[in-house]
Amino acid sequence: MTQDVIVLGSSGHAKVCIELLRAGGSSVAFCIGAPESGDTCLGVPVLHGDEHLKGLRSRGYERVFVAIGANKLRQRLAAFATDLGFHLVNAISPQAAISPTARLGSGVAIMAGAVINADCTIGDLAIINTLASVDHDGRIGNAAHVAPHCGLAGNVTVGERSFLGIGSKVIPEITIGADVTAAAGSVIVTDIEPHTRIAGVPAKTMHKRT
Ligand SMILES: CC(C)(COP(=O)(O)OP(=O)(O)OC[C@H]1O[C@@H](n2cnc3c(N)ncnc32)[C@H](O)[C@@H]1OP(=O)(O)O)[C@@H](O)C(=O)NCCC(=O)NCCS
Repeated sequence: MTQDVIVLGSSGHAKVCIELLRAGGSSVAFCIGAPESGDTCLGVPVLHGDEHLKGLRSRGYERVFVAIGANKLRQRLAAFATDLGFHLVNAISPQAAISPTARLGSGVAIMAGAVINADCTIGDLAIINTLASVDHDGRIGNAAHVAPHCGLAGNVTVGERSFLGIGSKVIPEITIGADVTAAAGSVIVTDIEPHTRIAGVPAKTMHKRT
């Protein structure tokens, strides 16, 4: 068995996650990219196609990180990898401030400057991106993504696979359902139903372009 990590993804998000893994003392052996991806990502060789995962597992690799920004796809690929017997590792910046009473799932990415305060729960495969903050008692669902510079006040719940776009703000005690997309700069002052797309200040349901 080897402790080296396999990273699923080879995009810009993967670059950030590779650097977080390295900062945490891990080596990244291979990335798995799409057929059209380049051959290396930050010096890591890229294998093209998810089918390579099975072979890597039989070669003794057992640690994987899913560095895919799209929430549903991240969750689907993580299930594929764990079904093959991989363990999901976390990629956490040494420059993140994480309360000792926060609970983190597996496969989580926490970028530089993120703040996670007392008694928060961060679900499996969640991303807390650069300079985002989740205040006390926050609950971030599995595979949710809190983009850079978001600010969540105390007691905010974010549902599974929901995405808060860059710079979004959420007032205290708000519950955001699953599979919500909040556009960049949304200010969320009411609870949000699942599967809703919202934008604006205060955030309202987005209307599709005709
Ligand atoms: C909401 C978003 C996902 C785009 O969705 P989309 O379906 O492609 O939306 P469109 O670009 O077709 O825009 C639809 C309408 O919403 C408006 N809109 C788009 N983004 C908006 C925003 N952030 N705030 C307010 N209105 C916005 C558009 O102006 C458009 O309005 P119109 O119909 O009056 O012209 C995108 O604009 C966004 O905010 N992405 C966030 C990206 C991000 O934070 N990434 C972080 C990666 S780490």
